[in-house]
Amino acid sequence: MFKNFRNKFNKMFSHDIGIDLGTANTLVYLRGRGIILNEPSVVALNQKTGTVVAVGTQAKEMLGRTPQHITAIRPLVDGVISDFEVTEEMIAYFLNRAQADGRKFLGPRVVIGVPSGITNVETRAVRDATKNAGAREVFIVEEPMAAAIGIRLPVMEPVGSMIIDIGGGTTDIAVISLGGVVTFKNLKVAGDKLNNDITAYIRGEFKILIGEKTAEYIKIAIGTVLAGETPLEAVIKGRDLVTGLPREVVITDADIREATSQSIDTLLEAAKEVLETTPPEMIADVMNRGLYLSGGGALIRGLDTMLREYLKIPVHIAEDPLTAVARGTGVILENLPKYFEVLIQNEDDLPPAR
Ligand SMILES: Nc1ncnc2c1ncn2[C@@H]1O[C@H](COP(=O)(O)OP(=O)(O)OP(=O)(O)O)[C@@H](O)[C@H]1O
Ligand SMILES: [Mg+2]
Repeated sequence: MFKNFRNKFNKMFSHDIGIDLGTANTLVYLRGRGIILNEPSVVALNQKTGTVVAVGTQAKEMLGRTPQHITAIRPLVDGVISDFEVTEEMIAYFLNRAQADGRKFLGPRVVIGVPSGITNVETRAVRDATKNAGAREVFIVEEPMAAAIGIRLPVMEPVGSMIIDIGGGTTDIAVISLGGVVTFKNLKVAGDKLNNDITAYIRGEFKILIGEKTAEYIKIAIGTVLAGETPLEAVIKGRDLVTGLPREVVITDADIREATSQSIDTLLEAAKEVLETTPPEMIADVMNRGLYLSGGGALIRGLDTMLREYLKIPVHIAEDPLTAVARGTGVILENLPKYFEVLIQNEDDLPPAR
């Protein structure tokens, strides 16, 4: 009865908003509407005036292309807030846009995803940044849990569900049962690390310097962890380290494989470790039901097959893997009472430091 009233009250006077605050992309879910924003987590600042010049897609276009007094910043690194003030500005900007068609009486209630294994201090930073950005109430959920909910795994049931969310900054590997994370591992080997691997390899092998965007572009265009019958190629432009002049080279999928093989091995190894520390009953569940891949890294060509062969269990790529966490925050918003226990309520309820 009271809950009903509370829900109606909330609908009338405030928005309910879900946020996937990712290292690479921020997605915003508006209750009753779905995902209404999906933009890179980038902010461009004017250093002279200290003001925000652009946020999201517009700001990402500026990465590596700004005049001296403008800097384009990615305020989250490795899944964690590295620049608190800029993160706050970014959240405020997205919250404002989410409420653009009719601001309500009260600030929004916000469900926001954080990487698993985040420290209390980091959780607090996310909570404070979201509050300062105008949220009335903030509910925090671990990203792998949100992803699992987003792809409708039976997280509240006594069944082991395994998820690997490979984002830009972090990979979260978790086995979930009865609304809780049973075993997990969080590593800073994800999309950004692969981009860096590629940049370093091309610098070493071809003696040319490429930017972050180019590295990401070739990773997505020709990267595959398994060799196919026909090689994939891409022509890239960079700066010759010797002459200092622009130069073109042809890169193949074999180059990308070589560049990223160590990081991919680290991922496989970590997934195996999580399985090895999972209680037997739940291993049986995972063997029957398979593991699910989400996040942008789920789209790395051949990774599903490689995991299947390495772990000897079925592997599924989540439908629309890049939006799984945001959709999960949406499902939570639509059923807050049901999912209350999966939320990290406040610092006092946090699990002991890990
Ligand atoms: N088709 C693809 N193949 C390989 N990688 C991809 C593909 N599409 C996107 N990615 C990578 O996925 C990453 C972004 O994924 P996602 O949006 O899930 O990350 P995020 O949620 O912002 O980061 P995090 O969860 O670590 O905070 C980027 O590194 C991007 O390069
Ligand atoms: Mg993510």
